[in-house]
Amino acid sequence: MQVDVYFTAKEIIPEDLKEKIAVVIDVLRASTTLTTALQNGCSQIIPVAEVNTAKALAAQQSKSTTLLCGERHGRKLPGFHLGNSPAEYIPEVVRNKTLIFTSTNGARLLTQTKYASTSILASFVNADMVSDYIINAETDIVLLCAGDENTFSLEDSACAGLFVYKLFKTFQDKVKISDAALATMILFNKFGHNLLNMLLLSSHGRYLKSIGFGNDLPICANLNSVAVLPVFMGGVLKLLKTQKASAEIRE
Ligand code: MLT
Repeated sequence: MQVDVYFTAKEIIPEDLKEKIAVVIDVLRASTTLTTALQNGCSQIIPVAEVNTAKALAAQQSKSTTLLCGERHGRKLPGFHLGNSPAEYIPEVVRNKTLIFTSTNGARLLTQTKYASTSILASFVNADMVSDYIINAETDIVLLCAGDENTFSLEDSACAGLFVYKLFKTFQDKVKISDAALATMILFNKFGHNLLNMLLLSSHGRYLKSIGFGNDLPICANLNSVAVLPVFMGGVLKLLKTQKASAEIRE
């Protein structure tokens, strides 16, 4: 079993993801926001790389069941229903809706994972769900950090390190860990005891605070607050089937 990490979307060669699980990490904020949306009852999410494509797709859907969502430079786009703040994606707004979602890094990265055997969305809020899934799968894993416009980002890399740590703890010398993966584990060991502090230190965290989204940071740092595993398949992000069944039983 091999575990590798890509620090930016630019490094990815899509065909290299074949027969591997791709774990897409955009802690601030796309992974956190979309995981929250699925927890709060949205039926599916269609991630789209470009703003114009998102608008065109939304125009073809039923207005009563579709929301156009996402950001550029962290802010909601003109004419969009929602931006990219997890606090906006409450049950009253998203329940039974299809979300068409575009964001600078996270949404684009998801669309690059179509060759992976499975592609899942990860962040600190659903870390245990992701860890359990990749530990049980016992197959090669590629942790994909969204980064920030093709540059390294501290929070995505530290989150990758959390998963490397869990895999290493479980499989010890049965797992082959690349140097990139080892580096993320060291980062997680350094910052994992105070996730909020790390987000406040990070450049995107500081930027979000400067434009009025400081309240999103504690939400994104809230480890294991969301018990949901989003899976990206056939161009659509949904709950894993077993989770959907148990959500329906709860309703
Ligand atoms: C992205 O996909 O780049 C982000 O989630 C940016 C943001 O914080 O809105």
